[in-house]
Amino acid sequence: MLIVFVGPPGSGKGTQCELLAQHIGVVHLSTGELFRQQIQQATKLGQLAALFIDDGNLVPDHIVVELVRQSLGDVQYQTGCLLDGFPRSVAQAQALDAMVHEHGKQIAMVLALAVPQDILVDRLLQRQRKDDTLDTIQQRLDVYQQETQPVLDHYQKQELVVTIDGNGTVEDVFQRVKQAADLKRT
Ligand code: AP5
Ligand code: MG
Repeated sequence: MLIVFVGPPGSGKGTQCELLAQHIGVVHLSTGELFRQQIQQATKLGQLAALFIDDGNLVPDHIVVELVRQSLGDVQYQTGCLLDGFPRSVAQAQALDAMVHEHGKQIAMVLALAVPQDILVDRLLQRQRKDDTLDTIQQRLDVYQQETQPVLDHYQKQELVVTIDGNGTVEDVFQRVKQAADLKRT
């Protein structure tokens, strides 16, 4: 079961993926988390990624695609995976389509989390991650509109997109996410 989560910064991709991963027993792959681990370990990849992340910009496609390609090759991902924060450009979506095809797999669905912008900003300012400053949040939101929104158009053409109202408590939203995922599993 391969499910792609798409949503603007603060929409709850990470929060909901964690809950759904437990519910259906698959692993959660967050490219943002992978980069933050690399930054913490001060690897070359981390140092490079930080140049983009700190300004709220996307890490270049070829770097992200290679990282995901390596990760999806891991045994733990063979039975399925929840993709959080990848793909976030049309080029990444095309690369994922090719990877999935190569492995004889398919994307079960693309869950789009929809949350009003003022709520996104409130959530992120409260969290205070390094890239949660007002300027960087605005840049991340702009990048989402320009680069990632078209990913949803890409998957609409494949009739894979299920839009979820991401407003409400974590538990409310999870009920909606779970219902959408369970429908796909039956
Ligand atoms: P990434 O780590 O993916 O960050 P993001 O997309 O900006 O999203 P967030 O992690 O901030 O939000 P989320 O949707 O996961 O929400 P969360 O559950 O955390 O990427 C970071 C950076 O890495 C990018 O800017 C880019 O530079 C780079 N990068 C990553 N992937 C890349 C890619 N594929 N290509 C290129 N570059 C890439 O929730 C947010 C907060 O809200 C939390 O505090 C949470 O507790 C709270 N919250 C969640 N749900 C609710 C709720 N229902 N009610 C109240 N609070 C809630
Ligand atoms: Mg996240």
